[in-house]
Amino acid sequence: MRSIKLAVLFLIATCVTTRAQTPAALPAGYVGSETCKICHEDIYNSFLKSPHDAVETSAKRGWEGRACEACHGPAQMHIESPSAATIRNPSKLAAAVADKICLTCHLNQPTHVGRLESSHAKDQVSCTSCHKVHANGPNGLVLRKPAAINEQCASCHSNVWAEFQRPNHHKLPEGAMSCVDCHNPHGSIRPAMTQTFAANEPGCLNCHGDKRGPFTFEHGPVRFEGCVACHEPHGSANPRMLARPEVRLLCLECHANLPTVNTTGTIGVVPPAFHDLRSPRFQNCTVCHQKIHGSYVDRNLLR
Ligand code: HEC
Ligand code: HEC
Ligand code: HEC
Ligand code: HEC
Ligand code: HEC
Ligand code: HEC
Ligand code: HEC
Ligand code: HEC
Ligand code: HEC
Ligand code: HEC
Repeated sequence: MRSIKLAVLFLIATCVTTRAQTPAALPAGYVGSETCKICHEDIYNSFLKSPHDAVETSAKRGWEGRACEACHGPAQMHIESPSAATIRNPSKLAAAVADKICLTCHLNQPTHVGRLESSHAKDQVSCTSCHKVHANGPNGLVLRKPAAINEQCASCHSNVWAEFQRPNHHKLPEGAMSCVDCHNPHGSIRPAMTQTFAANEPGCLNCHGDKRGPFTFEHGPVRFEGCVACHEPHGSANPRMLARPEVRLLCLECHANLPTVNTTGTIGVVPPAFHDLRSPRFQNCTVCHQKIHGSYVDRNLLR
């Protein structure tokens, strides 16, 4: 064992640096990435293709020539007695501690990656639960294919995935869209981490711009409560993804002086007396109230 160790140390000492011809002097305790290559060649080689190689090659971040140790910590001890116990592995740390390592570089970036108010950060889902640092390719560090993202999210949110199996849903099971079209996995200023494209603007409007307004005659809940006052974007039995199976049941939750449970606490005006709600003619409210999201010309949202 001792002779192996000596041999290794000799190797390390004489190791010819191939990438940086004149490596900067390393701070005490650090051994540099080239050293890791001796024993972890596969990981070292795949690292060259990873976006994090920028840490290794650029002087900008202060880790030039020792990128491995930016995440794994100074490795002097590890190369003196190489074992899993002598080196830091972020995926074995508590989530908050692991996140802190990543955030030394990723905090406060324009993409909101470093938002710590996300439910994930609060609930111990660390960066490394979703990002495999040493993987390359389409299933590598960042998932980009909708189907792969959905699979990852669904692995923990199986109840939400079940909602997408309802008859009417956004086309996630078909792989045409993904959870991150509507949610920012890193957190957002809005509840439920829904995507913001601009302040106060739900992500829905990015694709459904015709519902944006501003309308001359707005429908109160569209503006003040948002789309989920009436829709279940994960999936619904209703063909328009309404939160209730029939449109009238939805409307009457807010537009009746009946003692029904009004889940939103928003009461609208009661329909005028000529609305005979027992008659089928009046049951499909949106046959007449066609501009249900807001109208430019009619305060009763009829056209
Ligand atoms: C002399 C050979 C040698 C060198 C050089 C070496 N390692 Fe290791 N490393 C090992 C051995 C042996 C293990 C234990 C493998 C096991 O338990 O399966 C290990 C394990 C690891 C682990 C896994 C720890 C865990 O908890 O699973 C990490 C991370 C690691 N090394 C990082 C590094 C980094 C970073 C460098 C360069 C700074 C480096 N190693 C240099 C031999 C080496
Ligand atoms: C951006 C942070 C980061 C950098 C940089 C980094 N690693 Fe890792 N490494 C990790 C994480 C996190 C894990 C745990 C596995 C995972 O989640 O992908 C890991 C795991 C490992 C392991 C354990 C084997 C395994 O696959 O689990 C070894 C060995 C290792 N790294 C070596 C290296 C070497 C060598 C370098 C430099 C070429 C390096 N790492 C650079 C974050 C990093
Ligand atoms: C020493 C600084 C540093 C540390 C620590 C670090 N990163 Fe990075 N990370 C970078 C740089 C540099 C890039 C390259 C892209 C860029 O310039 O932003 C990057 C890119 C990424 C990307 C995006 C790649 C892409 O294709 O857009 C992800 C995901 C990522 N890092 C995750 C992590 C995770 C997870 C950790 C913690 C385990 C971590 N990083 C730790 C510096 C760092
Ligand atoms: C719940 C899963 C999840 C967690 C936790 C997570 N990410 Fe991500 N991250 C993703 C997904 C999915 C993408 C791709 C987003 C896209 O394509 O819009 C991504 C993208 C990124 C990117 C690329 C830039 C971008 O916005 O496209 C970086 C950098 C990154 N994450 C870093 C981090 C860091 C650092 C942490 C921990 C603080 C973290 N991520 C936690 C899922 C996650
Ligand atoms: C490792 C497990 C895990 C993975 C993977 C994961 N999540 Fe989560 N997610 C959680 C936990 C735990 C919470 C917090 C508890 C809760 O609300 O269920 C959470 C919370 C959330 C919330 C917020 C709920 C709220 O009301 O604030 C959203 C939205 C969410 N996740 C979306 C996603 C998306 C999108 C992905 C894929 C990019 C994803 N999650 C991947 C575990 C995970
Ligand atoms: C079309 C947009 C959209 C897509 C796609 C979407 N969500 Fe959501 N999701 C929302 C909205 C809006 C809310 C907020 C609901 C509310 O406030 O009542 C929400 C709420 C949530 C919540 C918190 C409340 C709950 O229902 O548990 C979680 C967790 C969640 N989504 C996870 C996911 C996951 C995982 C995926 C992908 C499989 C996904 N979402 C895809 C729009 C979407
Ligand atoms: C990435 C683009 C995208 C985003 C973001 C998005 N949608 Fe959609 N939505 C679509 C597409 C495409 C369809 C129609 C095709 C289909 O059946 O999936 C659709 C269909 C719908 C329908 C049913 C329309 C019909 O009659 O078939 C409703 C309701 C809906 N979306 C509401 C929402 C709400 C609410 C949000 C925000 C929580 C949202 N959407 C976010 C793309 C998007
Ligand atoms: C007050 C309840 C209510 C609110 C709030 C609401 N919708 Fe709707 N939405 C409906 C009803 C009812 C229908 C079905 C209309 C019909 O039967 O033709 C519908 C239909 C749709 C459709 C499919 C038909 C079409 O007109 O394109 C889309 C897409 C849609 N809504 C998106 C949204 C978006 C995006 C938001 C948030 C900006 C939103 N809705 C807010 C009640 C609402
Ligand atoms: C979440 C509660 C809610 C739901 C669901 C809802 N509305 Fe409304 N509606 C309101 C509120 C609040 C107003 C504004 C009342 C006011 O201005 O005093 C309003 C206004 C209206 C108006 C205009 C009346 C006026 O004088 O401003 C019509 C017409 C209307 N709603 C029809 C409908 C129909 C049809 C449905 C079902 C597709 C529906 N609403 C679903 C809350 C709701
Ligand atoms: C046959 C067409 C028709 C149908 C179906 C219909 N409405 Fe109306 N509704 C009207 C007309 C026309 C007015 C405007 C009356 C007026 O000018 O005072 C109106 C007005 C309203 C108002 C505004 C009352 C006010 O005081 O401002 C509400 C609320 C309303 N309807 C709700 C509903 C609901 C809920 C349904 C479904 C259960 C429904 N309507 C179905 C034609 C219809």
